[in-house]
Amino acid sequence: MFKIFGRNKQQKENVKLFYKTDMHCHIMPGVDHGSQSVEESIEMLKAEMAMGISRVILTSHTTAETFENTPETLAEGYEILKQAVEEEGLNIELHYSSEYRIDEYWDQLYNEGRIVPMPGKFLLLENSFVQELISIDELMFDLSSKGYKPILAHPERYSYYHQRRTRYQKLHSMGVKFQVNLLSLAGYFGGGARENAYWLLEHNLVDMLGSDMHSVEHAQIIQHYLNSKEWAKLQPRLEGRIVNDMIK
Ligand SMILES: [Fe+2]
Ligand SMILES: [Fe+2]
Repeated sequence: MFKIFGRNKQQKENVKLFYKTDMHCHIMPGVDHGSQSVEESIEMLKAEMAMGISRVILTSHTTAETFENTPETLAEGYEILKQAVEEEGLNIELHYSSEYRIDEYWDQLYNEGRIVPMPGKFLLLENSFVQELISIDELMFDLSSKGYKPILAHPERYSYYHQRRTRYQKLHSMGVKFQVNLLSLAGYFGGGARENAYWLLEHNLVDMLGSDMHSVEHAQIIQHYLNSKEWAKLQPRLEGRIVNDMIK
């Protein structure tokens, strides 16, 4: 009788993340183009837990014209989801803030004192995808002087930085934290974003990782990536550097 070596009858366990806090996701239901229902949000939270996440900061979009969220709309979405999580008996801690696009609507909210920061006054900010804002350095300086801790969402995705990577170093040296998307590392946003993400990693410019998940499908792509050899190689280089759990 031949024995088949190396075959493990037990299915391989999913690989879990080494940190507990996902600080960038679109799981709050019905306030942007992420989750469209409470049921979908619950499925996404279960996928987060399967990855080892036990704290989630909900960061729905706030952008001019498309998703003009307010402290009220965000609080309402949070309360709805929190109740559903309790009913479902999920052991996951929820907080909420927003992914603020720096545009005229942001200016309005910021000037009116109507922004919702994360715990510890962290703020997730998204640059324009078309061109870098002329006033971004001043804004980051102003935020820091008011005690906010700005985080630049997915710096690897702004294609105008591909040729001007010194801007990354400038912004980071001003104290701006950089958050790279797991989806970018997985190649979901194309080779350019992935290449940029690796460049940032090699230059010690990555402080946080985010799922940026908008759907259950995104969660599956991330889980698949976490189970890959590539992630197994990368993870030891990231541990000790990623400060997601500092958001308190
Ligand atoms: Fe974004
Ligand atoms: Fe996002």
